[in-house]
Order: sequence, then structure tokens, then C-alpha cells
Amino acid sequence: MELHVLEHPLIEHKLTVLRDKNTPSNTFRELVSELVMLEAYEATRNLDIEDRQIETPVAPMVGKKLCSPRPMVVPVLRAGLGMLDGMTRLLPTAEVGFLGMKRDESTLDIVTYANRLPEDLSGRQCFLLDPMLATGGTLVAATHYLAERGAKDVTAINILAAPEGLERLKQDVDPSINLKVVVCAVDQKLNEHAYIVPGLGDAGDRLYGVID
Ligand code: URA
Repeated sequence: MELHVLEHPLIEHKLTVLRDKNTPSNTFRELVSELVMLEAYEATRNLDIEDRQIETPVAPMVGKKLCSPRPMVVPVLRAGLGMLDGMTRLLPTAEVGFLGMKRDESTLDIVTYANRLPEDLSGRQCFLLDPMLATGGTLVAATHYLAERGAKDVTAINILAAPEGLERLKQDVDPSINLKVVVCAVDQKLNEHAYIVPGLGDAGDRLYGVID
């Protein structure tokens, strides 16, 4: 696993506003989009490209274009949906699939409740979106899901990670997958409820408001 922690004053500034419990949902959503765009720039550094012959108004030239098949962006519902806008603004030609996964709060097991993904992901560069890499359980399950469909090149884009989750990824992710993880920060630890400390709270609730 390859870990990229983005270190940049703009990221630190936006992240601090994001973490603040007094930041309202509309600002929170906007900041998530902005942070994801900055992360996506790093996360897409190794996208496959090929030559493309064009003519500028001045001269012919050989430029570059993204290869086929198109990259696959997979937000993990529900909180990952808040990252989709930022990702597709930077990568508008990507195809978008969905994975619905949630944590059973009593057992902390990961349950898959929805998916919409092509059966064959071989040769596709896949980008998993989930704001919080906490226990790592969701990401391990999601990467296995993609691996079963033939994906070999997976990049996880998270806003925050806990050391415990990163450790779990190192141990439990299918070794056939080339996994890259891009985060804005690695926090101190998980608390007894598996929340990231200091973190930002429940990302889904902060994006969309709490549903009882
Ligand atoms: N999921 C969240 O939304 N927040 C955490 O801190 C951990 C998991």
C-alpha cells in the first residue's frame, strides 16, 4: 500500500474549518468538494494516457488524452456521495459506480446494502471515495469487491485516516491489488465508538444532517 498525505497550507486551512463543529452543512459540503479536487489532483497522477494528434490554431502537434477504458469512480454510500462532485469536476469523463456499505454500530461489521458496478473491472483504474478511513473495514470490503471483478489498480481517496485503519489495510487488503491511499491528514487514533479523534464527527451527518 502506498500512502500519500497531502501537506499544503490550503488543505490545512480548509480541513480546520471542516473539523469545526460550528461549521454548517452547506459550508461543510463545499469544503469537502474543494478538498477532494485538491486530493484528486494527486490521486490521478498515474492515470494512463496516450498520444493524440491535434492541430492548434498555429501548428499540428501530438498531445495526450486519457486512455480507454475510462477511469471508474466509486463513492461509498452514503458519505462518499459528498465527494463525488469534487471528483467529477476534475475527472468529468470518468464512469461512476456506487457501493452502499454501512457499519453495523453494534458489531462494527461492514454490511453491503447496494451496488451498481460493471461485472468486469479488469484494466480499469478505480477510485474509491469515502471521507473517513476509520477502522479500515469498509475500505477492505470495498477493495475486495472491486478485486472480485478484476480490478488491480485502486486508489482510495479519504479526507481523514486513523492509524488503526491504515494498519488494517496493510494487513487485510488483497495483495493482488495495487492500492494507493490519498488523505488530507492522519489523525491520532480511534475512540471506543470507532470515531476518528480529533476527526470531524460523523461525516454523513455533517454532510446531510442527521436522520433519526
Ligand atoms: N465515520 C465517520 O463518519 N466518522 C468517524 O470519525 C469514523 C467513521
